[in-house]
Amino acid sequence: MYLTRIISVQSFKGGTGKSTITANLAVTLAHLSKRVGVVDLDLEGPGLHVIFGISDGDVRGTINDVLQRSIPVSQAVIDLTSRIRLKDGYLVFVPAGHTLEEILKILDTGFNLFTFKNVLEELGKIYRLDYLLIDSHPGIEKDTLLAMALCDYLVLISRVDQQDLFGSGVMTEVAGQLNKPVVVILNMVPSSVNEKESKKISDRLTELFGLRVLTALPFNSDVLENLSMGVFVLERPKDPLTRRFTEIAMKMLEAIETGPSEEFSTTGRAAGSLA
Ligand SMILES: Nc1ncnc2c1ncn2[C@@H]1O[C@H](COP(=O)(O)OP(=O)(O)OP(=O)(O)O)[C@@H](O)[C@H]1O
Ligand SMILES: [Mg+2]
Repeated sequence: MYLTRIISVQSFKGGTGKSTITANLAVTLAHLSKRVGVVDLDLEGPGLHVIFGISDGDVRGTINDVLQRSIPVSQAVIDLTSRIRLKDGYLVFVPAGHTLEEILKILDTGFNLFTFKNVLEELGKIYRLDYLLIDSHPGIEKDTLLAMALCDYLVLISRVDQQDLFGSGVMTEVAGQLNKPVVVILNMVPSSVNEKESKKISDRLTELFGLRVLTALPFNSDVLENLSMGVFVLERPKDPLTRRFTEIAMKMLEAIETGPSEEFSTTGRAAGSLA
C-alpha cells in the first residue's frame, strides 16, 4: 500500500495564515519532487480555491459532495500539476463547496469519521500521494477534531498574539490525547519582535506545553497585498520568504522521513497560562 503522510494544518484562532501556509507548503513540497494532495476542509469558510486560482468552471465536484457520498473522490480532484509547471512533483487539490447552499447543507448533515478516513485513504492510493495536506477551519469543532484524529502530523499555525499562543496550548492538549506529533509555525511575527524575543516565545511554548516551534515567519506586507490571489512562492520565486518555505518544507521532510524526530512533539500538556 502507498504510504501517504497526512498533515493537518490547524490553528485555534482564525486568520493565522493556515490557508496561505498550506498552499505555499504544498507547492514547495511538489517542487521538491513530492506527490502532494491538498484538501480544503474549511467547510464553513473555504478559501484555498481562491489562493489556487480555481474558477467555477474548473470544479466538477467538491469535498462536500464526496463526504456526503454523492460522488467519488476522483470527480472532485483538480490536477494543478501543469499550472505550476512542475518538473517531477505532482499536485492535486480537492476544493470545498463555497456557495451558501453547499455550506449550509454540510453544516446540517455533517459527515462521519469513517467516510472521511476512506476518502483520505482513497486519495492517497489513487494519486499515489506522498503527502496529503488538510486545511481546516479554526478552533476546536467536529471537523477539526476529525482531521486531528486522522492525521499523522499536526502543524499548528500561531501568531505571537497571546490569544493565539494560549489557544495553541489548548490544541496541543487535544493532540496530546490523540497522541499526534505536533509542530508549531509562528506566523506574521511583527518586525518589532526581534529574533531574541521570538526565541523566548518559542522556548515558553516548549516549557508550558511541550511544543516545538519549527520556524517563525515574519509579517510580510507583500503576502497581504497579494490579496490571496495566487500562491506566493510561485509568484515570487526569488523572494526571501520563498526560500523560507523551501527551508520549512525540507525541515519537515527530514523530520518526517528520517525520524524519530526532535522537531515534532507528542507531549501535549494541559493548557495553562502563558504569563
Ligand atoms: N506572513 C504573513 N504576512 C502577512 N500577511 C499574511 C502572512 N500570512 C498570511 N497573511 C495574510 O493573512 C490573511 C489570513 O491568511 P489566511 O487566510 O491564510 O489565514 P487562515 O488561518 O487560513 O484564516 P481562516 O482562519 O479564516 O481560515 C490573508 O490576507 C493572508 O494573505
Ligand atoms: Mg483558511
